Amino acid sequence: MRLLVFGSGIGSNFQAIHRSILKNELDAEVVAVISDVHDAAIIEYAKNNDIDTIVVDNSGKERHEYERLIIDNIHDLNYDLVILAGYMRILSSEFIRSLKMPILNIHPSILPSFPGLNAQKQAFEYGVKITGCTVHLVNEIVDGGKILAQRCVEVKNNDTVDSLSARILEQEHIIYTKTIREIIQGKITLNMQKI
Ligand code: GAR
Repeated sequence: MRLLVFGSGIGSNFQAIHRSILKNELDAEVVAVISDVHDAAIIEYAKNNDIDTIVVDNSGKERHEYERLIIDNIHDLNYDLVILAGYMRILSSEFIRSLKMPILNIHPSILPSFPGLNAQKQAFEYGVKITGCTVHLVNEIVDGGKILAQRCVEVKNNDTVDSLSARILEQEHIIYTKTIREIIQGKITLNMQKI
């Protein structure tokens, strides 16, 4: 399966996915990593691993102009699945449709609770005792697409937002890779009509 990856930050989820590919635990290849942040660690990691990178800086651009530039850049690429790995931009429905292939996202809460930014902090401040992470299909509703997999993380009495986020991230790495593997193996089928 050919993966097209989008990320804005550290890219630890992408690194976990890539490590699984290198260990032959995931029958996939990375076509390119795309970012809106030119010095993002995910871009540096991709370059260090000889993976093609595309950076489209969004500063001073309207969303449709920015998305059009990405579409122009990926027009000739051949991919089967789009992976959002810490990509901190909301995709327009036109952009989602133009990608044509299913788009997966990882989110650091048990959706539909705590969508949007800083989900770990939202959950912590709300006072939940259980939170976690979700892999879902992307549709035009922010963090609102079909849920594919979830994992729980218990909030401990002595947790801070950082310690809780770190334990959620460990689970994200496991669940994202596992979900992609199950898609490749046909254990999860992506019905585009249902996103
Ligand atoms: C992860 O916690 C991911 O769930 C979150 O950003 C972090 C990226 O980390 N994504 C969102 O909040 C999307 N709404 P990473 O760059 O190390 O994979």
